[in-house]
Order: sequence, then C-alpha cells, then structure tokens
Amino acid sequence: MGRPLPIAVFASGFGSNLQAILNAVKQRRLRARVVLVHSDRAGAVALARARRAGVETLPLDPKSFKSRREYESRLLQELSRRGVRLVALAGYMRILSPFFVRRFRGWILNIHPALLPAFPGARAIHDALEHGAKVTGVTVHLVDEGIDTGPIVLQEAVAIREGEAAASLEKRIHRVEHQLYPKAIQFALDGRLRIAGRRVRVR
Ligand code: GRF
Repeated sequence: MGRPLPIAVFASGFGSNLQAILNAVKQRRLRARVVLVHSDRAGAVALARARRAGVETLPLDPKSFKSRREYESRLLQELSRRGVRLVALAGYMRILSPFFVRRFRGWILNIHPALLPAFPGARAIHDALEHGAKVTGVTVHLVDEGIDTGPIVLQEAVAIREGEAAASLEKRIHRVEHQLYPKAIQFALDGRLRIAGRRVRVR
C-alpha cells in the first residue's frame, strides 16, 4: 500500500462532517491525508476544527475576487499545488461552476441530508418534515454541474418518528452522515467506484 492520498475538504459552517473525516483519519478508519480545508466564510467553525487538528486552512471570501472564475481558479491552483486527489464538500454552501467540476470530475463528493432525488437544496431536513415524509436519510453523491443531481454513491435511510422535531431528526441524520461520508471517501480513494452514466457501482 502506498502513502495515504491527499484530500481537501470545503466547508462553510459548523463542520461536524469535517470533524468526522478528521476523526476517521486519526483512527485509521480512513486512509487519507486532509491537506487543506477551505471555507468561503472566515468565521466558520470548520476552520477552527481544522486548525485544532493541525490541518492547513484556506479561508477565501469569493466576494474579494473579480469573478467566480477567479475564485475557483485560485482554489484549483491551491489544490493542484498540494496534489489533492479528492475534494469532499461538507456543508459547503456554494455551487461549483462547470469550470471547476470539469477539472475534478468524478473526484468531488458531496453529502446531503436526504434521500436524493427527494428534497434537494439547502433545507432538506425541514422540507422532508414539512412534506410529511415517513422516511428520509443521507446521500453521498458525486458532484456534477447541477444542484444535488450527481450520481449517487451511498445512501442510508432514516425513519422519521411520529411528531418528531426538526432538531431531533437533524441529530439522527448527522449521526448517519458521520459514518457514511468517511466510508464513501475511502471507496473513492481506493478506486472502487465504477461510474456508468448515473449509476455508480461500488466494487
Ligand atoms: C450536513 O447536514 C450536510 O449533509 C449538508 O450540510 C450539513 C453540514 O453540516 N450538506 P456540518 O457543517 O458538517 O456539521
């Protein structure tokens, strides 16, 4: 086995999924090196988590760039300088443009708190409850040019309890996310994903 492969995590917020990835690396459940954590928000708790783990951080405010293209070019530059093989989006609240996606196709993962294609978008947990769904869950998917539309890698269902509050459902969904994401990242790094159109087979 060679050296653990370098990965980057993009996160805009609390970073509990980033933490799960860092923990999995530390406990050797995930064979990878997190070499960079980028956030588009300087105050993101995710950045503090990265620093605490001794991981290099890259806070960049997209508004300080002339265009989205320039912001993403800078990101690509930083990734290639560190030989990053895979980018894990973990609560990253921006849409990557086709320009970025093309450069990393098949190597950008995202985690979403619903069973896609149900309840895409930023309010998935709330939307599932509002809709009266009985089952929701977690999806890890490859990122394509759309919003939460890329090929699905792993999914796990979470049953919604009668009268359950959003906070409770969110907690249970996060618990599943924290198990599922490191696992999916490992499959990708191990070259176990066979992608044929929308279908991803894990060998
Ligand atoms: C998670 O629920 C993830 O599915 C969604 O954003 C949330 C991020 O949470 N994309 P955290 O910042 O990892 O705690």
